[in-house]
Amino acid sequence: MKKFWLLMSFALVLVLGACGGDGEGGEDESGQPADEGVTTEEGGDEGDGADSSDTALAEQTYEQNNCMGCHGEDLSGGSGPPLTNVGSEYSEDEIRTQIEEGGDGMPGGLVSDEEKLDALVTWLASQKSE
Ligand code: HEC
Repeated sequence: MKKFWLLMSFALVLVLGACGGDGEGGEDESGQPADEGVTTEEGGDEGDGADSSDTALAEQTYEQNNCMGCHGEDLSGGSGPPLTNVGSEYSEDEIRTQIEEGGDGMPGGLVSDEEKLDALVTWLASQKSE
């Protein structure tokens, strides 16, 4: 039971950190290996709509499908444009199409898993820095 609450508070910290949008890479503030414990896919995110695991899945997908290489570790951009405000500039549909089809220097089809694509699109659509 204790362990459950410990995990919940880690998850909460992750969610708050991810939604804070301060872009300063807040994940590592505590110096604790929280990421290892919580952001795995084992949490049974079988459609029970838990936001924390969707966010974790989205971030993981972002990191593992080369997005980070062009859009930066913290969405601040690189050879690709920054995505910190992409949710204000584009609709979910537009973001999804961009990821599926690419274009203008961005390769399409990087994310073929529907569940991961969904999580990624929802997460990006919530990035509104301005
Ligand atoms: C090879 C570099 C590269 C990779 C890898 C890449 N992108 Fe992009 N991305 C770009 C470029 C360049 C643009 C700008 C395209 C344009 O101007 O239409 C872009 C545009 C976007 C946009 C539209 C926002 C905007 O301002 O145009 C989104 C959303 C996006 N990328 C998400 C992703 C995601 C998610 C991934 C990983 C699945 C990814 N990108 C991988 C280079 C990349």
